[in-house]
Amino acid sequence: MNNQIQRHCGKVRHFLDTMDFSKEDLLNIFELADLLKKADYDGSVPPLLKGATLAMIFDDPSTRTRVSFETAMTDLGGHAISLKPGEIHFGSHEAIQDTARVLSSMCHGIMIRTMDFKLIETLASYSTVPIFNAMSDYNHPTQGIADFMTMREHLPEGKKFDDIHVVFVGDSSEYGIISIETGHMCAALGLRYTIASPPKYSLSEKEQENIRNKMKESGGSLTVTDDVDNAIKDADFIVPDVWTYYGYEDQEAERLAAFSPKYQINMELLSRTPDHCKALHCLPAKRNVEITSEVMDHPTRSIVFQEAENRLHAQRGLLAWFLHHRLRVPDQEKVRDYENKAKSILKRYKP
Ligand code: CP
Repeated sequence: MNNQIQRHCGKVRHFLDTMDFSKEDLLNIFELADLLKKADYDGSVPPLLKGATLAMIFDDPSTRTRVSFETAMTDLGGHAISLKPGEIHFGSHEAIQDTARVLSSMCHGIMIRTMDFKLIETLASYSTVPIFNAMSDYNHPTQGIADFMTMREHLPEGKKFDDIHVVFVGDSSEYGIISIETGHMCAALGLRYTIASPPKYSLSEKEQENIRNKMKESGGSLTVTDDVDNAIKDADFIVPDVWTYYGYEDQEAERLAAFSPKYQINMELLSRTPDHCKALHCLPAKRNVEITSEVMDHPTRSIVFQEAENRLHAQRGLLAWFLHHRLRVPDQEKVRDYENKAKSILKRYKP
């Protein structure tokens, strides 16, 4: 156990929903993530989280989130423990408040992926260390940071970040967590956001109101339509998501009929956007279903893999932003005093 970070800090800020944050907060996180990316490319990532431990609870599979969080903790001088279903008593065998209290006493942060946003909120209400929402059935805030970090790096020539037009094409119903996350980021940052979805798979009135309420403060705008042509004609970035989600394969035929071919991100669709317009995808993608291989692997129209790599850089920024201020520089005189006292106890050990 190290004593460098205050685990029992009274006031704790969690990362549950990007709309909980101001534009200023998010721009600071981008700036930090950009700097740490530069440091990485320079082979010089500073050990901002030396001695810190992150518990990572995964109720669902993950490639990008799992690897980026663990690598980011290691790079910053800390450590991450991956806790899969069946490895800890969570939910069924132990009350959430008890798990939250125990993990808070041993770790400096808790990352959780579970398809139950309310459970993440409950965990956060009992945790005395920061909780990172690593994807829920409602949103995906760590993805949102990486996505907009990537857009900032690929702005159309002569255009400012504040002026970009982000267009989601696909499922924005309650299953469409990327459409919601992108909306929350646009709302927090005050950006122009358009959603093109079939009416049956469109953003709920409640969520539209939620996003528009935040946009009243931020200055962004939200348009929801099923007119793809109109939505994409001046898009700077196109954001799709899978059409059928993991665990919902029984809906595949119905969903394919609703989305294909009109909502597929292919070269023909991109030809109806400005030349500079770029496609993202959070991955994993179903190649040649919601997005074609030709687009995904395109040298100038795709920023899909830059986006995936940025999950790592964004995670470093997020972890450092939320955990570093809890660091306490050890008082070396006290460390020596404790060491001497411990050694005098250790002398009593008999083999
Ligand atoms: N985009 C994303 O969250 O990827 P993983 O499911 O692999 O973590």
